[in-house]
Amino acid sequence: MQRACAVFALLFAMSANGATQGGSLEPRYNSEFTYDEQLLEKMIRMEVEMDKWETRMIEQLGQLTSLREHIDHLMKTEDSRLELIQEAYVESRNNLTALQSRTDGQVQQLIEKIKKEVGTTPNILFKARRVKNETPSSGEIIVFEDVLYNHGSGYNSSSGVFTAPVGGTFLFTARLLSQSSGSVFFEINVNGSMNSNGALYGHQGWSYASADSVVRLLPGDQVCIKLLYSNEISNGGLLSDINSKSNEFTGVLLHV
Ligand SMILES: *[C@@H]1O[C@H](CO)[C@@H](O)[C@H](O)[C@H]1NC(C)=O
Ligand SMILES: *[C@@H]1O[C@H](CO)[C@@H](O)[C@H](O)[C@H]1NC(C)=O
Ligand SMILES: *[C@@H]1O[C@H](CO)[C@@H](O)[C@H](O)[C@H]1NC(C)=O
Repeated sequence: MQRACAVFALLFAMSANGATQGGSLEPRYNSEFTYDEQLLEKMIRMEVEMDKWETRMIEQLGQLTSLREHIDHLMKTEDSRLELIQEAYVESRNNLTALQSRTDGQVQQLIEKIKKEVGTTPNILFKARRVKNETPSSGEIIVFEDVLYNHGSGYNSSSGVFTAPVGGTFLFTARLLSQSSGSVFFEINVNGSMNSNGALYGHQGWSYASADSVVRLLPGDQVCIKLLYSNEISNGGLLSDINSKSNEFTGVLLHV
């Protein structure tokens, strides 16, 4: 309405102006009245157009507002979705950290266990005495048939052969009792070859021939006592007095 009033005010101002100069300035119009009339008509049409335009603007503004609200809503939804994602991310990261420290602990325990097992020398130890055959021939394996202990089951009292259950550094000792003025020559045989030997010859009374050997074995390597020569090995007195005149073969794992 304000604009309409303004248009009428303008119209009157122009028609007043036209009353003095209109005739010479606007020759196309028949009269000042016609000119004013047409101007008024144009202005009213313009007013109507402007009203329409304003209505459209208001509509567009409304659309823009609802669009903006929609965008705001979307953004809020996105924000809350992002928050959820972020929470899930933090949670899984925490889970992962917890899992990692648990796993680290388990690995550490395992390492300690392995260290203990690796660092511990297994108990492989045997001692056998009393020869099966007191008059063995040269090259014969001496079988010590009375087994006092055999941890790790490496020694076989039927064959007289020790088989290394694990690889490592072993100590072996052997002691053979010669009868009075007899002779004994023997070897500690490792895996088929002489590794050490003991001998007794031209002596008086009961005497021991002894040998020992420190040797590094692979699992499955074999050690035995083999006779080279003897006129008699004695077990005499063993049964009545366990502390005297016993022949012995011992072995122990020192280090893996
Ligand atoms: C985190 O760990 C808990 C408990 O094990 C589990 O319930 C949850 O689903 C895990 N979260 C993720 C994101 O992996
Ligand atoms: C011990 O030696 C005997 C005779 O050689 C053999 O028959 C037996 O299988 C061996 N025992 C073991 C457990 O190796
Ligand atoms: C023992 O003999 C086996 C088979 O011949 C061989 O593989 C191994 O290296 C030998 N061990 C030693 C300590 O000589």
